[in-house]
Amino acid sequence: MKKEVDLSCTYMGLQLKSPIIVGSCGLTNSLEKIQQMEECGAGAVVLKSIFEEQIIVETSHAYKELDDSYMHSGALDYIKNYTEIASYEKYTNLISQLKKSTHIPIIGSINCVSDGDWVNFAKRMQDAGADALELNISLLPIDDDKTSKEYEEKYIRIIRHVKENISIPLAVKISPYFSSLVKVLQTFTYSGANALVLFNRPYEPDIDIENMKVTSAGIHKEGKGFHSVLRWISIMNDHVDADLSATSGIVSGKDVVKQLLAGADTVQIVSVLYNKGIGHIKTVREELTDWMQRHQYQKIADFKGKMSYKNVQDPNAYLRVQFMKYFAGIE
Ligand SMILES: Cc1cc2nc3c(=O)[nH]c(=O)nc-3n(C[C@H](O)[C@H](O)[C@H](O)COP(=O)(O)O)c2cc1C
Repeated sequence: MKKEVDLSCTYMGLQLKSPIIVGSCGLTNSLEKIQQMEECGAGAVVLKSIFEEQIIVETSHAYKELDDSYMHSGALDYIKNYTEIASYEKYTNLISQLKKSTHIPIIGSINCVSDGDWVNFAKRMQDAGADALELNISLLPIDDDKTSKEYEEKYIRIIRHVKENISIPLAVKISPYFSSLVKVLQTFTYSGANALVLFNRPYEPDIDIENMKVTSAGIHKEGKGFHSVLRWISIMNDHVDADLSATSGIVSGKDVVKQLLAGADTVQIVSVLYNKGIGHIKTVREELTDWMQRHQYQKIADFKGKMSYKNVQDPNAYLRVQFMKYFAGIE
């Protein structure tokens, strides 16, 4: 007879019934869908992000006076449309409703590019009952008069300012595109990040070669980015005093096991739920449970980090970036 296993874990001090979090996306903006996620065994949910620009536009009540100079190209048009269906009032109301009708941690999410008055909204999320906040900070380093250090300082100012405004835990979701990733992520934790979410999947462009138009590369890319995340989770596990949440490319219970072995405290899944439905959370949970039973692990802490960079016999396996030696002789 198979032994019962305990999937519970902690993330930024929050108690989770399982390490499987539904990441920020269009599915996490509705009460009914989030209730379904809880029923299927999600440990927590990160709400669809509210955009910094959206907060500014709504709080300024001055749509018409704003122009594209503040925002990245096209953002204003998008925000004008988006705010009609998703105001920040609705956002805080959703948090309040969720706190009354669900029992899993609700993590608010803000997508931001600068440090400004919009951070007050972080406090409003907290007041509405959010258990934690995830900041998705995405700066595209295209200014040729700015050094990488200046860009990094911008991230740090944002993290510090938000942290000053809230007392709930703060997670920071970023891309891997920093010149000195370990150092920079350490600095983010010293600045107040309680967790790092590795890695954000950015919007990417494509070209429609028949119509000569720049288009979207599409976002539902199941499995994309998994191995890069695995590498950096394993390395960061031994380099930061913060929790780690793995996101990108996680589709199955086996993937969850791998990220936990590398050292993740939690994992976030998104694209696979668009493709297979919210019920897929149950399958992922069952696969994780089955693996733990077969390997006789009773709780997550029994194997978390067991295969991190520091704990494996050959840590170089995580550092290898050139294929030459590996594929020598393969024609
Ligand atoms: C349709 C869609 C909407 C998303 N919206 C957000 C968002 O508002 N904020 C955010 O931080 N990430 C957003 N993401 C990124 C996801 O949270 C996740 O990090 C990314 O999709 C990689 O995980 P996956 O491979 O499981 O999809 C979105 C992803 C998708 C597919």
